[in-house]
Amino acid sequence: MSVRLAVFASGGGSNLQALLDAFNAAPDAPARVTLVISDRSDAGALDRALAADVAAHVIDVRARPEEDVALEMLELLRHHGIGFIALAGYLRLVPAQVIRAYPSRIVNIHPALLPSFGGRGMYGRRVHEAVLATGARVSGPTVHYVTERYDEGRIIAQWPVPVLPGDSADTLAARVLAVEHRLYPLVLAALALDAPARDRELQDAAFHWSEDSAPTAEEIIHLVQPTPLP
Ligand code: GRF
Repeated sequence: MSVRLAVFASGGGSNLQALLDAFNAAPDAPARVTLVISDRSDAGALDRALAADVAAHVIDVRARPEEDVALEMLELLRHHGIGFIALAGYLRLVPAQVIRAYPSRIVNIHPALLPSFGGRGMYGRRVHEAVLATGARVSGPTVHYVTERYDEGRIIAQWPVPVLPGDSADTLAARVLAVEHRLYPLVLAALALDAPARDRELQDAAFHWSEDSAPTAEEIIHLVQPTPLP
């Protein structure tokens, strides 16, 4: 039986789309996106959910006590029988009560190699501008467990993406995003398949790549189309 996955998104939802494409069309996929939650009524992610026939809800979090928001979220998550939550460009903190209700079952994808270039306010172009400002030669997405603080929590997977000469925040963002679209479905599939084992050993949630499911170096090189260094 596949794990029922909720995706939280505030923006365009290209990562949501990658998850929909990977899971919802395949009857034997280990996970299935069955609920999308956004804090913004104008999020493109909501349109993608509707187009894929997935339930979509807006939960406004502004000027509301955290407990209220948590209750509304938990009610929806329970109503849809959600077993796992993936944040995909969700710009709010997840309420503590929700985190407690889904121990080791909420993950996020961040467009840089944590623990660098993360934290409050580090989203969108700002992340890639910060990477470029340091002269770092490697960036890439990180998938990590979600805690009550921005971009903290145990790291599950990372994938290196080169920073190329002449990169702008936009070109780097596009190269990292393309890899996010590969990495997130792979990680979530592995976590969903691993769910029974994790039930037994929640605290030992180490993630191991399987050689067959990880993208090959050749695929990634093709994907990022590196140009030679000067
Ligand atoms: C991605 O870069 C993700 O890493 C970050 O927010 C962005 C969301 O993009 N957390 P999209 O809405 O999935 O296109």
